[in-house]
Amino acid sequence: MGESMTGMKRTHYAGEINEKLIGQTVTVMGWVNKQRYLSHLIFIVVRDRTGIVQVVVNEQKNAARYALAKSIRGEYVVAATGVVIARMPENVNPNMPTGGIEIDVQELRVLSESEVPPFQVADEGVALDMRLKYRYIDLRRPEMQKVFEMRHKTAQVVRQYLSDTGFLELETPMLLNSSPEGARDYLVPSRMHPGSFYALPQSPQQLKQILMVSGFDKYFQIARCFRDEDLRADRQPEFTQVDIELSFVDEADVMTMAEGLMAKIFKDILNVDIPKTFPIMTYHEAMERFGSDKPDTRFGMELKDISDLVRGSDFQVFSGALDAGGSVRGVNAQGCATMPRKKIDEFVELARTHKAKGLAWITLTEDGSVKSTISKFFTEEQIAEIAAKFDGKPGDLIFLCADVNAIVFEALGAVRLAAAKWKNAIPEGYEFLWVTKFPLLEYSPEDQRYFAAHHPFTSPLEEDLPLLESKPSEVRARAYDLVLNGFEICGGSIRIHQQDVQKRMFAALGFTPESAEEGFGYFLEALKYGVPPHGGIAMGFDRLIMIITGGDSLRDVILFPKVKDASCPMTYAPSTVADVQLEELGIALRPKKDDE
Ligand code: AMO
Ligand code: AMP
Repeated sequence: MGESMTGMKRTHYAGEINEKLIGQTVTVMGWVNKQRYLSHLIFIVVRDRTGIVQVVVNEQKNAARYALAKSIRGEYVVAATGVVIARMPENVNPNMPTGGIEIDVQELRVLSESEVPPFQVADEGVALDMRLKYRYIDLRRPEMQKVFEMRHKTAQVVRQYLSDTGFLELETPMLLNSSPEGARDYLVPSRMHPGSFYALPQSPQQLKQILMVSGFDKYFQIARCFRDEDLRADRQPEFTQVDIELSFVDEADVMTMAEGLMAKIFKDILNVDIPKTFPIMTYHEAMERFGSDKPDTRFGMELKDISDLVRGSDFQVFSGALDAGGSVRGVNAQGCATMPRKKIDEFVELARTHKAKGLAWITLTEDGSVKSTISKFFTEEQIAEIAAKFDGKPGDLIFLCADVNAIVFEALGAVRLAAAKWKNAIPEGYEFLWVTKFPLLEYSPEDQRYFAAHHPFTSPLEEDLPLLESKPSEVRARAYDLVLNGFEICGGSIRIHQQDVQKRMFAALGFTPESAEEGFGYFLEALKYGVPPHGGIAMGFDRLIMIITGGDSLRDVILFPKVKDASCPMTYAPSTVADVQLEELGIALRPKKDDE
């Protein structure tokens, strides 16, 4: 510590001061958490990253020191030397880990003053925008310090585990080429090459595959990734992956490796024993049963298909959806019959935000009566039959949705989750699930072409390969996601390592040989020179930390997060730059139109 500055040297963290040190002289340094005056005594609670400790300044021992202590305000940075003493029994604070002792001050320094802070560190009710603008003060909160200590420890566990199991930590560049597919890139203009741009990596995908070509058969990197996407609670434009790639492996090898890594993290960080292997479910089954490719399997309320029960009914909404090749499905929100009408309306709205045209419901009240939005169209017996399909009991609430499958799944998946949250029906704990055999390609009606569901280098299932040209949407991928409590925490795949398959994949995505060459040139070139079969996975590190620290937004686990419009409330990034900078880069800004 800065001895020359203060003449004092820190001997202990605040949180380290305990009964064992009674009688010893210690020096702590930190921020003033709060002060209290009591006749000739001033109590100052000093906070550092480990906790808080109380120091006592006694006017009767030294009037000048007492006067200094009196000038001290919240968030001043102070150094205090004194003897650790036991508190009088009546002064013991059982709510404070160091509440049984205090420091009887012999020397006190103010190392730095503070203006009145915009909010009290301990204050619970501070608005989020204030917290983020003054993030450095927000980060002083003990809970925040704990989160980032946990994040640090988890990173160490990851490094150690992967290193111990033969992986090399290798760094790939941040300044890369933009390539088609994927999310929108963050671009960086080149001064040396006016009109040319680097792109920040959305992930080190192509480079880690090239490292396999180079013979680094077990690679990992704690990699920063950049995607210009709309923000959500579980999505930041700049995030961290534990990126992993291995050669000479199949799906089971990658999954076993990831299971071992998860077990190590949960044991070392949370002292929780998780299963040695995780259940595996196909994408198809996950959608059919949960309406989601990242289902929270800690509770039931599974989707049921009632298309056959309502086929041929007069209810145009249902028959229309079925005629159009869709389905009618529903979910039993068990025990939710008491849900107020206003709340049910919110569920209908929720389904609409997921593109459903509507949501019907059947309430099975406790007294045995049945209320439903579809009672005009179905007989009591028919409704009872539908309810029976869901194993409906008095007290249940059944939601129904009719549409094309993709919309029915998405809407009911969201309804299922919201109902379980409303009913408080999600048990604590950790449930891991592998979701496999995703569709390889997704059709975009707007672009009138297929996109890679994962990325263009993901291998199709061998048995589906013959369908790549004839029935592209039926081809399944050798891709796997790891889901934890309804969050996708890892994604990965076995890659294409044969040039001919890669060419067919690009053709399926609508690339000509020339446009593929233009978009992925260097990568395709590398694939010509001996490619080992390989595959990998990337863990969403922020998401994992969010779950293990019990947070509900990535903002809680990223030091300086971006907000909804992708700006940083503390640094104000992004910002305009000086004209000379633009000139150097050969960039001219288009004048804003009035409607922009
Ligand atoms: P994928 O795009 O599935 O795969 O990303 C891997 C994991 O990263 C996390 N993640 C995010 N976390 C926070 N904010 C975001 N915007 C965000 N986007 C993704 C998720 C996800 O599971 N290169 C491939 C991996 C591979 O094939 O090896 C990739 O990036 O937890
Ligand atoms: P309507 O005939 O549009 O008044 O709808 C009658 C009932 O069917 C209302 O309760 C709607 O919420 C419900 N409904 C409308 N569209 C759908 C749909 N796509 N799936 C399920 N229920 C729907």
